[in-house]
Amino acid sequence: MHKEFAEIYDIFMKYVNYDEWYKFLRMFIKNKGTVLDLGCGTGEFIWRFLRDEFSVVGVDLSEKMLEISEKKLLKRNLVHNYKLVKENIVHYDNVSKNNEIQQVDYIICNFDTVNYLKNEKEFLKFIEKCNQNLKKDGYLIFDAVTEDIFEEIFENDVFLDEEPEYTSIWRHEQLSERKHLVEIDLFIRENESDNLFRKYNEVQYKFIYEPEWIVETVQNNGFEVFDTASNPEFGESRIFFVLKKL
Ligand SMILES: C[S@@+](CC[C@H](N)C(=O)[O-])C[C@H]1O[C@@H](n2cnc3c(N)ncnc32)[C@H](O)[C@@H]1O
Repeated sequence: MHKEFAEIYDIFMKYVNYDEWYKFLRMFIKNKGTVLDLGCGTGEFIWRFLRDEFSVVGVDLSEKMLEISEKKLLKRNLVHNYKLVKENIVHYDNVSKNNEIQQVDYIICNFDTVNYLKNEKEFLKFIEKCNQNLKKDGYLIFDAVTEDIFEEIFENDVFLDEEPEYTSIWRHEQLSERKHLVEIDLFIRENESDNLFRKYNEVQYKFIYEPEWIVETVQNNGFEVFDTASNPEFGESRIFFVLKKL
């Protein structure tokens, strides 16, 4: 997942206001400490936390995403206090040195990364793992999208996105009550001066959870729901969960 798409991810996301999103996170993440960024992608949150003197561990399954994160940090001269780990956020055992998990102060998992988990069972494992890796009173902040995301983005189940650097055609199909398929045909322009494109195909699956189910599950697994919020600026169908470890 997110191989070639990683190459154009930052262009695709240029309309997302990461500064505002970061400000929202900082309303809860006030005191300096270690942030574990699960599904860190191209590191947009990592560099901001490092700039503000936090330590960060970024975890992502996509090698390409991590490569881009690393380059971004080097470019900003942020070379200390971080670690990037290629792992699944459902079972990431080598986050710290010597494979020992040190509990962190905060865990974030942004931009509906939890909707990439396969099903409710995987989500539960994700929550258990977060519980294990977070200090008492530490915050876990993630967002999940509801079914409305498909109405919001896809007209007649197709979404076309064209930029000078690439063209992408997204097709949505509902596979079962909660499982959705998104197939992306991605055409990346070879170079600026001609019309030669490389074509890739990527299939993503999205699992949609009932917000009430999320609340019940986290409460049964060691978390207090500190806040839930939606912010239309980040999409009508996105719900933020701010949890505190008991
Ligand atoms: C939509 S992107 C979000 C990236 C970043 N958090 C942001 O806000 O820009 C989802 C990211 O999660 C990663 N991802 C999805 N499922 C994962 C899993 N099970 N384990 C680790 N990373 C995963 C993808 O590779 C991708 O980088």
